Order: sequence, then structure tokens, then C-alpha cells
Amino acid sequence: MSADVTITVVETPEEAAAEAARVLVDAARAGGSIVLAGGSTPRRAYELAAATEPDWGRASVWLGDERVVADGDERSNAALVRAALLDRLTVPPNFHPVRTELGAEAAADEYDRELSGVAIDVALLGLGSDGHTASLFAHSPALDVRDRHVVATEARLAPWVERVTLTVEALGAAAHVVFLAVGEDKAAAARRAFDEPPSRDTPAGLVRGARTTAILDVAAAGLVRCDRG
Ligand code: 6PG
Repeated sequence: MSADVTITVVETPEEAAAEAARVLVDAARAGGSIVLAGGSTPRRAYELAAATEPDWGRASVWLGDERVVADGDERSNAALVRAALLDRLTVPPNFHPVRTELGAEAAADEYDRELSGVAIDVALLGLGSDGHTASLFAHSPALDVRDRHVVATEARLAPWVERVTLTVEALGAAAHVVFLAVGEDKAAAARRAFDEPPSRDTPAGLVRGARTTAILDVAAAGLVRCDRG
């Protein structure tokens, strides 16, 4: 059993979202640099975080990964973050979208430069049912990149568009990495990522911050052999 992750198991997806929202609100109030996940799971956490604390004026917000689609495309992770969080705030943070209009490679270069020297306080990450996190997919060459914060990479799932992603190195430099996963379809991946030795099969298991927490509902935690609270 891996001892490097604190696993928090709650009953419902709503409670998991509330737990993640608490972490985000604390970081926003502290004026932190916060990396946010895309996908569908964190939407509720963002809504709850915005409702709890509408002033994010001291914080800066980054994306852990982005789909290379036109600005305003609803499939973009920036669109999710804007709709569920930023548009609901009275004082927005300094938001750093990925400049997808440049194309994947140039957008990754630009984001890499922008992120240089930033100390990430909290990185909220999702978990794919295949074990990916951000746009770090199993056995991808991106997993080996040590000298960059951000790279362009291919998609291994819908939407089938190029991705820009923070590297294992960049995400692992965060003071606190927080995974949020709910639902039975995440259970096998959660076991591999949080309860088994690190493997390139399961990129989420390679990302560990100074401190790492996994917030799971009971369905996602179903296969994790945990006696932890
Ligand atoms: C993305 C992501 C990705 C996501 C997982 C889980 O751009 O899709 O950031 O890594 O977190 O695929 O997605 P769900 O929350 O939709 O299951």
C-alpha cells in the first residue's frame, strides 16, 4: 500500500466536490497559485468554491491541461473553468488560459514560459478510467519529459484533439496535489494510482506533490485497500 497519498473517502460525489471546493477556497483565500483540472468531475467543486468564496482576487489560476480547440469552444477546459468558477466570482483571479490559437506546440512553449518560476500551491487533478491524469496518457513520451513544465501531446480519448499538458515534473512540484475522482468506473484506476507501485501504465500514480491527497467517493474507492480515513 502506498503511504505517499492521503486518501479521503466520502459517501457521495457531492461530498467529494465539497471537499475539493474547501481545498480550492483555502488556496484562493491564501492568494495561492492554483492549477485546475478539466473533464466533467470538477464542475461541481468549482461551483461550490465560487459560491463559498466570490473573491479570488489574490489568487492565480492555471490549467493542468487543455484541449487545442478554438477559444470559446465548449470542449475547452478554459470554458469549463470560466462557466463553473470565474464567471461566478465578484473578484476574479489572474487567470492563465492556454493560448490554443497558436497551435499545440507553440501554445505549449508559451505556457511553459509563462509557468516558469511559478510555485504551484495546489494542483487539482482528475483521474481517467484508464489511469491518465491531465493529458498524461499511459506510456506517452510526455511522461519522460523532465526539462519542461508544459508539453504538447496527442489525445488518447475524446475529444480527439491535440492537448497541451503540464508534465509529471511540473505537477509534482506543487506543494499539494489533489486528485478528485468519483464513480465506479474510476475504481480500478484509483487502485492502481493510489494503492500500487508507480507505473507508466497509470500516469496518475506518477504524480506526487510535496503532499498528495486523493478525494474519492465510496464508488471510486471500492477497490482501494485502504484502512485510511
Ligand atoms: C481533460 C482532463 C482529464 C480529466 C480526466 C477525468 O482535459 O479531460 O483534464 O485529465 O481530468 O479525463 O475526466 P472526467 O472528470 O470527465 O472523468
